[in-house]
Amino acid sequence: MAGRVNTTPTLAGMHRRVVSLLLAFSFVLASCGASTEGKLGVELFQVTCAACHSADLSGGFGPPIGAGSNAALNLSDDQIGNTIRVGPGRMPSFAELSDEQIASLVEFLRWMQDGS
Ligand code: HEC
Repeated sequence: MAGRVNTTPTLAGMHRRVVSLLLAFSFVLASCGASTEGKLGVELFQVTCAACHSADLSGGFGPPIGAGSNAALNLSDDQIGNTIRVGPGRMPSFAELSDEQIASLVEFLRWMQDGS
């Protein structure tokens, strides 16, 4: 515990980057007039999905779904929407989400997958 923990600054830095990315995303959408859906996507993801897939989509309990992932390369928007509704394997189903909420989640995923 007395030694320097080298990973701490990096993790903190990464976290700040993700948070500012998310803030930038909300802001861009707000200024484009797509605010409701986009903000919903960011917030919904953090509340509903990040526990398993990480705030930056790098995965955890669930697989990575960010840039370069199977979801980015091989799944269509509809397939991702279905995944959210059905909850394959050990992922829970989110059938209670509205079409708009699911669309905003897909929009958020695509935005994150394209970025960086
Ligand atoms: C309790 C943990 C958990 C939560 C919460 C969760 N997922 Fe998942 N997710 C998983 C697991 C586990 C898989 C892999 C399922 C399988 O095929 O066995 C998965 C798979 C996926 C996939 C498909 C990935 C691929 O390559 O096939 C997508 C897309 C996805 N989740 C998105 C989401 C979204 C969006 C949310 C929020 C609405 C969410 N997940 C919430 C655990 C979770």
